[in-house]
Amino acid sequence: LFAGPIGFLKSAPGLEHLPSPDVPEVTFAGRSNVGKSSLLNALAGRNALARTSNTPGRTQELNFFDVGDPLVFRLVDMPGYGFAKAPKDMVRKWRFLVNDYLRGRVVLKRALVLIDSRHGTKDVDREIMTMLDKAAVSYRLVLTKADKIKASDLATVTTATIAEARKHVAAHPDILVTSSETGLGIPELRAAVLEAIG
Ligand code: GTP
Ligand code: MG
Repeated sequence: LFAGPIGFLKSAPGLEHLPSPDVPEVTFAGRSNVGKSSLLNALAGRNALARTSNTPGRTQELNFFDVGDPLVFRLVDMPGYGFAKAPKDMVRKWRFLVNDYLRGRVVLKRALVLIDSRHGTKDVDREIMTMLDKAAVSYRLVLTKADKIKASDLATVTTATIAEARKHVAAHPDILVTSSETGLGIPELRAAVLEAIG
């Protein structure tokens, strides 16, 4: 499926703009700049499907990508959270959009919650994990940018992140370790997505 057609469908700045819920969805969540859009591109084996950037907060809508022709499922790139300079208004808007999407979307099969290997789990990550627990959306923690740190530090953050996952009811007890740069963990991530859509 990932070798076949994958295309950008639309951006939804609000719930009234969501595509009709006719296929399963898997969504990418995580702090701004954690590497959501990059990981989505790596998963799809494309360079510039989802727009990546060094400017935190670049993605501000829910972006939908169609996988398969005929359509089989959708990947959803979420706006990032937790960057220092975010205006209050934007944070409020984010919380409403994301919470409504997570709670109301019947076709949402799984979320991937991305955590930067260099930083580990932060309070803002715990906030979205709790939102997912409450919305009963199952999710998987995914460490990103594994190429950026030493193997010994990666081992430490992996252990800590597994411990974090095990504190949350809707989190998968195991995590994935990835790098969009080197391709580490991408086959495993694809398998996890396919498993989620059933
Ligand atoms: P927002 O849309 O602002 O929430 O950010 P995002 O989570 O979509 O992050 P994005 O994919 O745009 O990546 C942010 C920056 O990190 C970019 O400069 C990427 O090139 C870089 N980056 C992403 N993944 C990796 C990775 O695995 N390794 C390295 N070295 N850099 C990465
Ligand atoms: Mg993005």
